[in-house]
Amino acid sequence: MAIIEIEQLTKSYRVYQKGEGLRAAITGLFHRQYREVLAVRDVNLKVESGEFVAFLGPNGAGKTTTLKLLSGVIYPTSGRAKVMGFVPWQRDNEYRRRFALVMGQKNQLWWDLPAQESFRLHQRIYRIEPQAFQKTLGELTDLLGVKDLLSRPVRELSLGERMKMELIAALLHSPEVLFLDEPTIGLDVVAQHNIQQFLKYYQEERGITVLLTSHYMKDVAALCRRVVVIAKGQVQYDGSLTGIVDSFSGAKVVTLQLAEGIVPQGLEKFGEVLSVQLPKVKLKCSRAEVSRVLAQLLEQYTVEDIAVEDPPLEEVIAAMFSRVSSEEAVAEGVKK
Ligand SMILES: Nc1ncnc2c1ncn2[C@@H]1O[C@H](COP(=O)(O)OP(=O)(O)OP(=O)(O)O)[C@@H](O)[C@H]1O
Ligand SMILES: [Mg+2]
Repeated sequence: MAIIEIEQLTKSYRVYQKGEGLRAAITGLFHRQYREVLAVRDVNLKVESGEFVAFLGPNGAGKTTTLKLLSGVIYPTSGRAKVMGFVPWQRDNEYRRRFALVMGQKNQLWWDLPAQESFRLHQRIYRIEPQAFQKTLGELTDLLGVKDLLSRPVRELSLGERMKMELIAALLHSPEVLFLDEPTIGLDVVAQHNIQQFLKYYQEERGITVLLTSHYMKDVAALCRRVVVIAKGQVQYDGSLTGIVDSFSGAKVVTLQLAEGIVPQGLEKFGEVLSVQLPKVKLKCSRAEVSRVLAQLLEQYTVEDIAVEDPPLEEVIAAMFSRVSSEEAVAEGVKK
């Protein structure tokens, strides 16, 4: 049985809409105008125990809202979800002891206190046995290399150090399911890498189930075999990271190393010319035509070396996000 099961999950927010001008402002005092924002719309998803799943999508796609629903922070408008058999928004104490939510954009630790004080509080809240607490804390601080920082007030820590403390706080009660909302946001590449390595090790070691959102494809590539893309509150793709390139990119990038002295003419007819830095030339052409284009290029020019690659993943994902948004805009336009 799946450890996370989401069926037709929907969350809409009612937001106050302010009209323009004085007249609207005055009317608004008496008759408030509301607008529905569908943050999550009919989402279906199943995650098996031990999976490390990336949850991707453009800003405002509904990722954080989904994680909040699964953590029982907010109630859904409709639909169902179960995590380890619990309905999250029923806020069962037993459920609380078995999952954790970490948000990169939000502090859960006491700002003015040393992290270890917050950890002690967690120990009491989650009723962690003193021995188990010391053992887990020792392991986590070792793995993350923050032993010396435990007694410093959290406000004095760097962003990366603070994130490590947030992770420790979340893992002290050894949750089986972990929701990570942009845990590496704003971190430098070294800190980002450290946290990736830690999460990878920890997840493999414990076999826990993780749902991660991140805008950094490096996190996703390092950690997740399965990627779920959501946009406009709905699941758009569910598969491997590399599968995104196959499904959403109709293009290949061809790099040619021309023989000395050749100045190519009329490259445009083979595709989009990305760069010309002789003797190197980069072209983007459609996947379907790549073999024909290669044959013609080889016939026309003396080529020393040739490489055919997929376009960069970030680019494909950005294109997919904007395509989803513009399809939506077209659909909305038709409705009006
Ligand atoms: N408390 C709220 N009240 C009203 N609308 C909200 C609220 N929280 C989120 N929304 C709206 O719901 C939609 C989804 O927001 P959500 O925070 O889930 O996006 P996200 O995928 O996490 O985006 P990001 O990548 O920017 O973090 C957005 O349109 C947002 O404006
Ligand atoms: Mg978010």
